[in-house]
Amino acid sequence: MKKLKMISLVLSAAFLFILSACGTSKTNGDGEKKTLRVVTDAAYAPLEYQDKGEIVGFDIDFIKAVAKEAGYKIKVEHVGWDPIFVEIKGKTADAAISSITIDSKRQQTYDFSIPYFLSKNEILVPKGSSIKSTKDLEGKKIAVQNGTTGQEVVEKLFGENNDKLKKFENNNLAILELKKGGVDAVVADNTVIETYVKNNPNDNLDFIEDDATFNKEFYGILLPKGSKLKAELDKAVNKVLDNGTYEKLYEKWFKTKPDIKILKDQQK
Ligand code: ARG
Repeated sequence: MKKLKMISLVLSAAFLFILSACGTSKTNGDGEKKTLRVVTDAAYAPLEYQDKGEIVGFDIDFIKAVAKEAGYKIKVEHVGWDPIFVEIKGKTADAAISSITIDSKRQQTYDFSIPYFLSKNEILVPKGSSIKSTKDLEGKKIAVQNGTTGQEVVEKLFGENNDKLKKFENNNLAILELKKGGVDAVVADNTVIETYVKNNPNDNLDFIEDDATFNKEFYGILLPKGSKLKAELDKAVNKVLDNGTYEKLYEKWFKTKPDIKILKDQQK
């Protein structure tokens, strides 16, 4: 009798275990964790770029930490900037991480995770340039990456069909154009511009801030509208922000401490 009870106890425990395993969305039929397909434009160092054929950067470390926290494996793939939006809209990818600013226009078509990074636009110019603020960009040739907030802010200042504005498929091409003398300035995210200036002293470039014109922006993980992942990833982002991982990664890449409070305040 005792033995029988024992067996039925073990059996029902096993049954419950199987049941719970089936109930979670993270597992496929074999009980293995689902692998998320994450797309990026790995031409935005130090946030996402390619190093010896590997995709690396702050964003990549960050999404790995978030996925791990949420119980997912991930595969990060470089697809380029415009294709990111095509893939997420068409749901051929589960998520995108690529220094993507959360803005109301994008929010009409996509979902975003809670904010994970503070950024703003900045101007890249040759050292000694007469450009000292956005106002000085008037009449100057400006390069931006197509479809970015950099393009948006320049168009807001100088008009949408401004023939002085040159749009490039990725930001490295915009910087190349500046080095060739084809434009007078590049407008892009501050972290990327300042890292470029620091890492390429022989290019003799400088960065110009303009807080009066360039607003605070916050990056989010881009998701298909209505994605069930959002709740799980948001929870994981908060864990990574709270448990010291974010700070560790931030210091690894930027050698300075992050302002986590400003990110958290955005959630209020
Ligand atoms: N933060 C800007 C935006 O969302 C630029 C991002 C560009 N990212 C990239 N990986 N090229 O529009």
